[in-house]
Amino acid sequence: MLKINSNYQKLPGSYLFSEIARRVQIFSQEHPDADIIRLGIGDVTLPLPEAVILAMHAAVEEMGHKETFRGYGPELGYDFLRQAILDHDYKARGVELSLDEIIVSDGAKSDCGNIGDIFDVDNVVAVCDPVYPVYVDTNAMAGRAGDYDGEKWTRLVYMPCREENGFLPQLPEPDADLIYLCYPNNPMGTVASRKELQKWVDYANAKGSVILFDSAYEAFITDPDIPHSIFEIPGAKTCAIEFRSFSKTAGFTGTRCGYTVVPKELVRQNVSLNQMWARRQSTKFNGTAYVIQRGAEAVYTAAGQAQVKANIAYYLENAATIRSGLAGAGLTVYGGENAPYIWCKTPAGLDSWSFFDQLLQKAHVVTTPGAGFGPNGEGYIRRTAFGDKVATAQAVARIAAVL
Ligand code: MLT
Repeated sequence: MLKINSNYQKLPGSYLFSEIARRVQIFSQEHPDADIIRLGIGDVTLPLPEAVILAMHAAVEEMGHKETFRGYGPELGYDFLRQAILDHDYKARGVELSLDEIIVSDGAKSDCGNIGDIFDVDNVVAVCDPVYPVYVDTNAMAGRAGDYDGEKWTRLVYMPCREENGFLPQLPEPDADLIYLCYPNNPMGTVASRKELQKWVDYANAKGSVILFDSAYEAFITDPDIPHSIFEIPGAKTCAIEFRSFSKTAGFTGTRCGYTVVPKELVRQNVSLNQMWARRQSTKFNGTAYVIQRGAEAVYTAAGQAQVKANIAYYLENAATIRSGLAGAGLTVYGGENAPYIWCKTPAGLDSWSFFDQLLQKAHVVTTPGAGFGPNGEGYIRRTAFGDKVATAQAVARIAAVL
């Protein structure tokens, strides 16, 4: 008899952002005139940079002529994009990589989820708490998380990130084989110093663990002392995989392009993880569309860089508006300085879903309840800085009025 993957039956409710979308849809059907401001999911609102659009138009034109038309591309990415990534994101920061260590994809979310394919189901997985839910849910789907006890997964090692430890995780106890880290952090908006990251690299090398490092938000780092890549840390090439995305950097949330770096020095059980990931991707994925990769390449031109920097500055200004507005209204806020997320305590006595509901009903502002990111997210709410500037200021004013 056919058996389904019963791990899916263990998943509680729906994916966090689908649940939020469902609640917002119900509210908006019941209140069709409500002017809802969405500061929930971290979706960009500025259009793609002009340099990207021009490059995409040119690539579309190429696709319309027999001489320049492209069919299947190289599954792991065109060299023109891999080279641009290598030069600008790594070489410029003193990190030496080769083209085949950079594997282009349709985004960091898919890669963070799919990477589990190359690891055994028995590995022990450590996640920060609170955490981007994709790491948890995809391990649960694979059968690596155990059972859900109503609050936590029995086989995951949770690393609490609380106010008293500066929202920074301690080394896992018990030891873990796979460790997910995300810096700048989603959802808390924190960053990790070199010293902090060195602690993780040393641990992983000593234990033979692998760090799965999500740096989708590195473009928001303003502090020159904060590393943008785990590979800026000595020893990282033998213990880390890094996920990057054009979504938040250059507005590709709807266009889809990212990449994963798996160094050739990363070997476990005498097997190259780079080769395993390349094998997985070339078998299950046919590559990111040519037009999109040309658009991503344009991010690295002088014009592209200037336009991307202006967009990031716009969002960081929103973050400052949210931070100061909410602090002025009496809330305790964190993050939002080197990251597009603001992590904010709920008012006394309100749990995070109740505060979410209150803000939706009374201020018509969508946020993300901290509890959706894990047990230690309870008592917090996350706001994104990716909104429109005017709408963001309005949302802050409305929230202050509700408080
Ligand atoms: C978020 O809001 O946490 C992100 O936008 C989700 C994602 O990037 O998949």
